[in-house]
Amino acid sequence: MQSPSRITPQLDIRQLGINLNHWYVVARSSEVQTQPLDVMLWEQPIVLYRDNSGTVHALEDRCPHRQVKLSHGCVKGELLECAYHGWQFTSSGECAAVPYLAANQKLPNCKIRSYPVKEQHGFIWLFPGNVEILHAMSLQPLGISEWENLNYIATVSTINCQAHYSFLIENLMDMYHGHLHQDWQAWTGAVLNDIQEDANRVDAHYQAQSYYKIDKIWSISQLFFPALRRLHPEALDVSYVYPHWVSTLGKDFKIYCLLCPIDRTATRAYLIHFTSLNAFWRLHKLPVWFRRLVKNSLFGSAQTLLDGLVRQDVQMIEEEQQAYLNHPERRGYELNRALVSVQRLMKNQAEQR
Ligand code: FES
Ligand SMILES: [Fe+2]
Repeated sequence: MQSPSRITPQLDIRQLGINLNHWYVVARSSEVQTQPLDVMLWEQPIVLYRDNSGTVHALEDRCPHRQVKLSHGCVKGELLECAYHGWQFTSSGECAAVPYLAANQKLPNCKIRSYPVKEQHGFIWLFPGNVEILHAMSLQPLGISEWENLNYIATVSTINCQAHYSFLIENLMDMYHGHLHQDWQAWTGAVLNDIQEDANRVDAHYQAQSYYKIDKIWSISQLFFPALRRLHPEALDVSYVYPHWVSTLGKDFKIYCLLCPIDRTATRAYLIHFTSLNAFWRLHKLPVWFRRLVKNSLFGSAQTLLDGLVRQDVQMIEEEQQAYLNHPERRGYELNRALVSVQRLMKNQAEQR
């Protein structure tokens, strides 16, 4: 039997930075409207806004005139206007207009940072790293093909936790914490079989007993009534695809967690649960407009379940963070070897920034 081991005592994982050379999620698409939105990604204040053509842009949230937040301002056509004196800025961060500029004055030659940003799969993805690396390596956001796929029903829950991102990732990769969720969880009895890791990801393969099978039209009610679920064995795979997380349970169930680490003691993340309708072959023969209607009307059907799971996890994660802050010298004991791989990946990635 494996004896409990201390996790990497020489390394303080809870103080790690992040590798900025990845695409992070900073907001849901629906959160970015005409009013500028302020977000924070690893201590960098950023303003997101949608111009009059609907394109989303991201700038440093700082007016170069008097250093106030540009997110207090508003969008004027293609430009972002500061609330204080009305200076206007282009999406590349240059000053384009000053309302009181005298005829003999030139526009100030100031420039703030702009960030590469993409709107994809219902989220706003932002690249906070080195743009030369982005282009040289053609880095892309994590693909979430289920978002547009008519056979998948999505539910999104936002995680706001006062904790270092490592606590969240370790929670997500450690399937032995199903104990916390009891009946709320879709599976039970997880056993870790195998781990694979490389420079960018850790894949942990568990075997579990699933309660969850979507093969009848009423199966979706399992989301609301745990008593309707029947146990059967399924593969439970969880992957840390730095900096995000994805999990599958059999064929019917997929979850993503998209991370936005805010600073060393705060993390925002978006948990997206997909239920598959792949088993309903008759549904696939119906017109696309009807299938889209089904997909859209069932959006959020697992909301209560997902929010409940998030609340339970966040409480534990925040307690871990507090315990760390009160006694940073205390180290936990760990039996799940997947977490050793996860910590190694976080450390290696943080060192590359
Ligand atoms: S502080 Fe922004 S325009 Fe003056
Ligand atoms: Fe959990």
